[in-house]
Amino acid sequence: MKKNILVTGGAGFIGSHLVSALLKEHRVVVLDNFSTGRRSNLPENSQLTVVEGDVSDLCVISQLFADQEFDYIFHLAAIASVMESVEQPLVTHQTNMDGTIYLLNAARTQNKPIQRFVFASSAAVYGAEPTLPKTENSPIQPLTPYAIDKFGSERYVTSYSQLFQLPVAVARFFNVYGPRQNPDSPYSGVLSLLVDAFKKGNQADRVEFTVYGDGQQVRDFIYVADVIQGLRLLAFSEEARDGTFNLGTGRPISLHEVILVLEILTKKQVNISYKAAREGDIPKSYAAITKLEQLGFQVNMPIEKGLQAYLEAELCATV
Ligand SMILES: NC(=O)c1ccc[n+]([C@@H]2O[C@H](COP(=O)([O-])OP(=O)(O)OC[C@H]3O[C@@H](n4cnc5c(N)ncnc54)[C@H](O)[C@@H]3O)[C@@H](O)[C@H]2O)c1
Repeated sequence: MKKNILVTGGAGFIGSHLVSALLKEHRVVVLDNFSTGRRSNLPENSQLTVVEGDVSDLCVISQLFADQEFDYIFHLAAIASVMESVEQPLVTHQTNMDGTIYLLNAARTQNKPIQRFVFASSAAVYGAEPTLPKTENSPIQPLTPYAIDKFGSERYVTSYSQLFQLPVAVARFFNVYGPRQNPDSPYSGVLSLLVDAFKKGNQADRVEFTVYGDGQQVRDFIYVADVIQGLRLLAFSEEARDGTFNLGTGRPISLHEVILVLEILTKKQVNISYKAAREGDIPKSYAAITKLEQLGFQVNMPIEKGLQAYLEAELCATV
């Protein structure tokens, strides 16, 4: 049966892919203030309603829930840049933490019982603690306002399940990549910057790219379609109720190895200039995903396939 689903941050990179997937079966309402999201990321669809508004404005949330009730909520709206959170901790806190509490409260008090409140958290909550791979029980060491607010929000989300029996699930995203990821800031995800460099150097044999650190840093890059697969499991499977799940591939890869895969796929060489590692850059981070796999998750897009799909989408978009 068609459900009414709220996706906050639905005009952003990950949110817009989620919205397109959900629209195949459901009605979707997007709440977004278009700070980084774009209307053009969203499809034209009679089952989609777009509400322009701020999650940190209590009046906006109250009005939204006065107008309608939801079966599911995916809460993705956030200031998603760690650097911006360091520069603007107050605004970050209002969006990333207050916004979560406003939504939880609205979800709890609407008449219709919510079937699942899914919260987009981040592997940043693990901080620099070196134990690998990261399991959901690894020590938590949030180091930035972004990570602190994500962890604080996680605690609010799980406490709403314990105190008020709100069915919830928390997703800790690792490094997500894919089409529509914004490469405009030097702090954007490294794969969006790399693919952008290939896009700009499309006509040349060599591509210029700056690596911060020695290129040996290891990450868990997950293609956005696999993130959507994971988010759907967290919302629609009974076993995910009230759990916290890593959303990664469980397959570590260094930045140098990623560059090599891109060189092979594009038959171009990358000229790397090295700069000092950025303050707070974590040498290695990757997920254990046993918990997610127990829900039926499979990595459909390993890095070679994911990068190929990303390149095709981005290079086609330039012509
Ligand atoms: N991309 C990643 O690798 C990654 C990793 C870990 C966690 N996350 C989390 O996933 C979620 C989505 O991230 P993304 O990469 O798609 O980023 P994004 O910036 O593309 O999406 C965020 C969306 O939220 C909207 N937004 C921001 N502030 C808002 C506010 N106050 N009110 C309403 N809407 C607001 C933006 O306009 C945008 O559409 C975020 O919560 C982010 O913290 C992303």
